[in-house]
Amino acid sequence: MLLDTNSPLFWQESYHNGRIPWDLGEPTPTFARLAASGHYPPGAMIVLGAGYGHDARLFARHGFAVTAVDFAPQAAAAMRQLNHADAQIEILEQDIFALDGAWDGRFDYLLEYTCFCAIDPARRSEYAALAARLLKPGGLYIGLAFPIGRRPGGPPFVVQPDAVVELLTEHGFTLQHREFPHDSVPSRQKIEELIILQR
Ligand SMILES: C[S@@+](CC[C@H](N)C(=O)[O-])C[C@H]1O[C@@H](n2cnc3c(N)ncnc32)[C@H](O)[C@@H]1O
Repeated sequence: MLLDTNSPLFWQESYHNGRIPWDLGEPTPTFARLAASGHYPPGAMIVLGAGYGHDARLFARHGFAVTAVDFAPQAAAAMRQLNHADAQIEILEQDIFALDGAWDGRFDYLLEYTCFCAIDPARRSEYAALAARLLKPGGLYIGLAFPIGRRPGGPPFVVQPDAVVELLTEHGFTLQHREFPHDSVPSRQKIEELIILQR
């Protein structure tokens, strides 16, 4: 049976088979640098498609109130298991596109890493609209646009950072910062760009 990336079953199968090449096994170095920089005061943060939650727990350890969303049962179960007192996060096992209006305007930050490239590209506009409604006015979208490229198919579905910035701008965001991080993991150097936009 061909599974659809819109279905949690697709992702659950990858977790079940241990085919999770996206998982770094630790927080993303670039996010660790941002979290420690002091430039981003702790606030409410949502992490979309959080996987095992390494980045979610990183920000929780820095005092952020983190909500991590993932619809793959094994990812959510792992996050529950790893949810220790020093890095307590709220875990939602559900489809990001089913987050209802009760979550609107609740977050100071939205953290994005390899969720945008996991969703069906036809839903990118829906994703941008979701990001816009989840954030408070003035809230920050902090994302690593990955993997940059031009090949067809996926997941991961390739991204062009300019197009992501343009899409978010169309949904009311303003670009604050972009960089090719010097601390990307070696296999992702130059094929990911940090983009930070304000709602
Ligand atoms: C490529 S993995 C990345 C996981 C994590 N961000 C990381 O970097 O390790 C994509 C994750 O997004 C989740 N995901 C994909 N589409 C989703 C959706 N519509 N709602 C919730 N989670 C979703 C998958 O279950 C998977 O765990």
